[in-house]
Amino acid sequence: MQHKTVKDYIRTIPDFPHEGIMFRDVTTLFADPRGMRLTIDQMLAPYVGMQIDKVVGLEARGFILGGAVAHQLSVGFVPVRKAGKLPGSVISQDYELEYGTATVELHQDAIKAGEKILVVDDLLATGGTAEAGIKLIERLGGDIVSCAFIVDLPELGGRKRLEAMGYDVKTLCD
Ligand code: PRP
Ligand code: HPA
Repeated sequence: MQHKTVKDYIRTIPDFPHEGIMFRDVTTLFADPRGMRLTIDQMLAPYVGMQIDKVVGLEARGFILGGAVAHQLSVGFVPVRKAGKLPGSVISQDYELEYGTATVELHQDAIKAGEKILVVDDLLATGGTAEAGIKLIERLGGDIVSCAFIVDLPELGGRKRLEAMGYDVKTLCD
């Protein structure tokens, strides 16, 4: 029997959070010991031996992945959070949602100019969240080495958007 791939562990929930949306649910991947290890091993493999100073994880599932990847690379972890959650001095960045806008924040002292940053999240859809995170990092002078995701939803254009801006994008499945 063939071993399961990362994609095989991801569950699809129809009509969440709205009717007509096929929600790719990575909690089933995280809950499986082999799935979790496979995911972290595959995500970090391209970066072993590269100069990475910090991993930045995007709320919320990017925290789970980013923490594990940072641990394996022996570097620090920094969260990009939804507005109002970080206690220190922050910088903020608005981004577009399907309806309206949202805001993410980063601690002002979390990244130093010139640091090499790996951005991590579970899923790339429109790329709006990742772009907002990237803008925050760059405002502090961080240098984006790459952006790593488990899932790309190609029809939503996030990869093309980030690559058109010159960023390296790595994903484990579509
Ligand atoms: C999801 C996902 C990404 C983002 C991708 O998070 O985990 O962060 O959306 O979409 P985009 O590429 O169109 O920006 P969500 O906003 O649902 O937040 P959560 O992880 O806090 O639930
Ligand atoms: N799964 C998780 N997060 C998402 C999705 C999805 O299918 N689409 C947009 N954000």
